[in-house]
Amino acid sequence: MTATDPRPLIEAKAVTRVLPGVVPTVLVREVSLTVTGPSFVAITGPSGSGKSSLLYLLGLLDLPTTGEVVVGGRATSAMDEPERAMIRLSTLGFVFQFHFLLPEFSALHNVMLPMRALAALSDGEMRVRAEGLLDSLGLSGHGHKRPDQLSGGQRQRVAVARALANDPPLILADEPTGSLDSKASEQVFTILRDLVDRRGKTVIAVTHDLDLAARMDRRIQLVDGAVAADTGARTAVA
Ligand SMILES: Nc1ncnc2c1ncn2[C@@H]1O[C@H](COP(=O)(O)OP(=O)(O)O)[C@@H](O)[C@H]1O
Ligand SMILES: [Mg+2]
Repeated sequence: MTATDPRPLIEAKAVTRVLPGVVPTVLVREVSLTVTGPSFVAITGPSGSGKSSLLYLLGLLDLPTTGEVVVGGRATSAMDEPERAMIRLSTLGFVFQFHFLLPEFSALHNVMLPMRALAALSDGEMRVRAEGLLDSLGLSGHGHKRPDQLSGGQRQRVAVARALANDPPLILADEPTGSLDSKASEQVFTILRDLVDRRGKTVIAVTHDLDLAARMDRRIQLVDGAVAADTGARTAVA
């Protein structure tokens, strides 16, 4: 690190997650990493290597057994849940393999949900912002539809819009194209690539697709819950 490095968006410091049991299971093993933005970071590795577990820890959806996750310079392990929830809501956006949109709500209202939870905008402002996000993701005219009236690719783009609702600097995605056909997958990938290149976002995406990982800026490979390789950090090539 040099004095000119920007402040890291997120850091894992010797993060370990053990599931207790008669035979304890180590999901994540002494993982340390620093991500500064904007960057498109792949987390790769075999099935069961701890990719999702690590992403949940980075996303403050799970707590490390030992170690620390630092978001925007703030250590999070000693925070109470409301404080962690506030960081999730304002700083992090989540996209999962399956969209997890609320089935009874329209696309527009699904995108507005994180805005309502943060309660920083008026109802009219939320609606305008949600419409703008859907437009920017190629979903003009689809805002009134429920998830079951949309294609898989469209649903996943709504999920990306929802992740962007509160304009977080960091998007965490777990196999975001994993359930899509190749055309829809390419569309979603291009959207995430553009978020980094044009909007200055940082995206950390779990993928087992090595062709996609090759088109990201950095690849962190997990084996048995530990970092086996970490290549192509943007800071190294900038
Ligand atoms: N809640 C859990 N209970 C038991 N085992 C789990 C649990 N969560 C994850 N695991 C196990 O931990 C390992 C890592 O899981 P995961 O992080 O989902 O891997 P990946 O996303 O790389 O496929 C796997 O062997 C998985 O079966
Ligand atoms: Mg997984």
